[in-house]
Amino acid sequence: MGYKVVVAGATGNVGREMLNILAERQFPVDEIAALASRRSLGTEVSFGDKTLKTQDLDTFDFSGWDIALFAVGSGPTKEYAPKAAAAGCVVIDNSSLDRYDPDVPLVVPECNPEAVEGYAKKNIIANPNCSTAQMVVALKPLHDRAKIKRVVVSTYQSVSGSGKEAIDELWDQTKAIYNPTDDREPKVYTKQIAFNVIPHIDVFMEDGSTKEEWKMVVETKKIIDPAIKVSATCVRVPVFVGHSESINIEFEDHLDEEEARDILREAPGIMVIDKREDGGYVTPIECVGDYATFISRIRQDSTIDNGLNLWCVSDNLRKGAALNAVQIAETLGKRVLKKG
Ligand SMILES: NC(=O)c1ccc[n+]([C@@H]2O[C@H](COP(=O)([O-])OP(=O)(O)OC[C@H]3O[C@@H](n4cnc5c(N)ncnc54)[C@H](OP(=O)(O)O)[C@@H]3O)[C@@H](O)[C@H]2O)c1
Repeated sequence: MGYKVVVAGATGNVGREMLNILAERQFPVDEIAALASRRSLGTEVSFGDKTLKTQDLDTFDFSGWDIALFAVGSGPTKEYAPKAAAAGCVVIDNSSLDRYDPDVPLVVPECNPEAVEGYAKKNIIANPNCSTAQMVVALKPLHDRAKIKRVVVSTYQSVSGSGKEAIDELWDQTKAIYNPTDDREPKVYTKQIAFNVIPHIDVFMEDGSTKEEWKMVVETKKIIDPAIKVSATCVRVPVFVGHSESINIEFEDHLDEEEARDILREAPGIMVIDKREDGGYVTPIECVGDYATFISRIRQDSTIDNGLNLWCVSDNLRKGAALNAVQIAETLGKRVLKKG
């Protein structure tokens, strides 16, 4: 006996990947429903070799369904996730709505799988922000060995992190550069994204940081250790899929680069590609469609006592969103629901 699974946001970037990953990983599905807005009623989406017709989230009855993977953004999540949860369906949510609620576990299965067991207070489990997810996969095994004091991270985030309209915006602006009569004004972003970089993701906070940067700080603390200090600068770059991060880590104990490389090679969810030669590192285009978080450029930071630098790349639609959500469902299944 398997699970009755709902994917809400099935016509979006993350929802489509959720359906792909559920099929690829052979998640024990007895029945599956693909939901989106009324605009997409009847739109066909793929689930393995099957085609599903999209249903309307607004009128869907969650009674009798086991797990709902949500990827619809905070507004619709606020309206529909509590309805699903009240009907007894466990919601695994990709929006930021409930991530900081102490009654909602925030889970990256490589880091804090045991946290899923706290799902029952609200029947909701939160998935972290895409840039946090890949970073904590890299940080956790190093923290377990040498205790991280402080992290300074700069991100290079792809446009797919802003939804399907942002992908169109990069594509249209890029074409318009070569055909200037075809003028494309920025709509999703505040400035041109084609052939440019934008040091601004999500809204500005009072202290001058952005909400995306704040999320990396708060989520790292909730997932790994409240004592870790994080300083983040989040930047949007003209890449379609795959987020990159330059990470500087200061440890309490000494950790040399060789040992760090060995630890990361053994750690779950990580692939180390670090050859110190031309092309001996991973770029975002190479991680698209992969499950792993790729680590390259591991090297000592000689300007502090116990410091390391590394380069971290992952598919933001997979580990940053859909894969992590399916891994949470797998962990919930193994530890709690025990079907399939
Ligand atoms: N992309 C990432 O890297 C990433 C990473 C982590 C978390 N997330 C989060 O995941 C969520 C989805 O992101 P995305 O990139 O997949 O966005 P997207 O490509 O724009 O897709 C949005 C999905 O939500 C549906 N939707 C929107 N409003 C709705 C409503 N009122 N009722 C029902 N369905 C509605 C859309 O359906 P229609 O097609 O019918 O409009 C579509 O299926 C967001 O909360 C985002 O913050 C994204």
